[in-house]
Amino acid sequence: MACWGVIGGSGLDVWDELTWIDEVAISTPYGEPSSVLRIGEIERLSKPPIKVIYLPRHGLDHRYAPHRINYRANVWALKQAGAQKLIATATVGSIALNIKAGSICVPDQLIDYTWGREQSFSEDGNVLHIDFTHPFDEALRSALIRSSKALIAYEDFHDDGTYACTQGPRLETAAEIVRLAKDGCSLVGMTAMPEAALARELGLPYALLCLSVNAAAGLGLSAEAIDHDDLKRVMAQGMHQIKAILLSAMQSDEDRA
Ligand code: HPA
Repeated sequence: MACWGVIGGSGLDVWDELTWIDEVAISTPYGEPSSVLRIGEIERLSKPPIKVIYLPRHGLDHRYAPHRINYRANVWALKQAGAQKLIATATVGSIALNIKAGSICVPDQLIDYTWGREQSFSEDGNVLHIDFTHPFDEALRSALIRSSKALIAYEDFHDDGTYACTQGPRLETAAEIVRLAKDGCSLVGMTAMPEAALARELGLPYALLCLSVNAAAGLGLSAEAIDHDDLKRVMAQGMHQIKAILLSAMQSDEDRA
């Protein structure tokens, strides 16, 4: 029975539906994680419960902007607490025109445009050159894809895509989005890096479950500006699906194990 780590992105700062049985505060050599870790269990009929460790990436009150998150402390703390694989959620903007706001996406690639973030656990004398050809774990992606296909309408789900990780916290300019599109990116967010690479450095399988909450800057309904009220509304609506997919993916993966 694996112990799952879930990193909750925007819109999943609290996860009330799960039964939390414990809370642990973990200090790491890299500083404090975004919040205490919550330990929960998913009950299953005549099977042992699944253990889940949950950490809201931005903190319980969404206090940390993407460039201020202590990604190293977060990933380290989850591993220290016993997580063996990580699923992270993220809200994104859609660059690809076929990914409508409100859709769910499980990306298979990423491009990192961030700067000035602590990128690695490498230290002088102990340099890590992890293989990162495929940044997301394929088995975890498959679990998320299976559950998404079972729960979401065909046209609202995308089982691949390239995630552009921008620095934030501001949203992009229209010209930046044109450039990201030319680079082959289909989604844009601010938090998957360095998180995904740090998980790989610690040997933790990692996959990302994305909810598109807006057309990226300059595109479609965001041609003139990105409407924050719209974005929040789509995020609130989509979180029900994100939570359902998370639960189902963990359950079905354990059933197949
Ligand atoms: N850009 C970057 N990050 C985002 C966006 C966006 O348009 N929407 C949600 N997160």
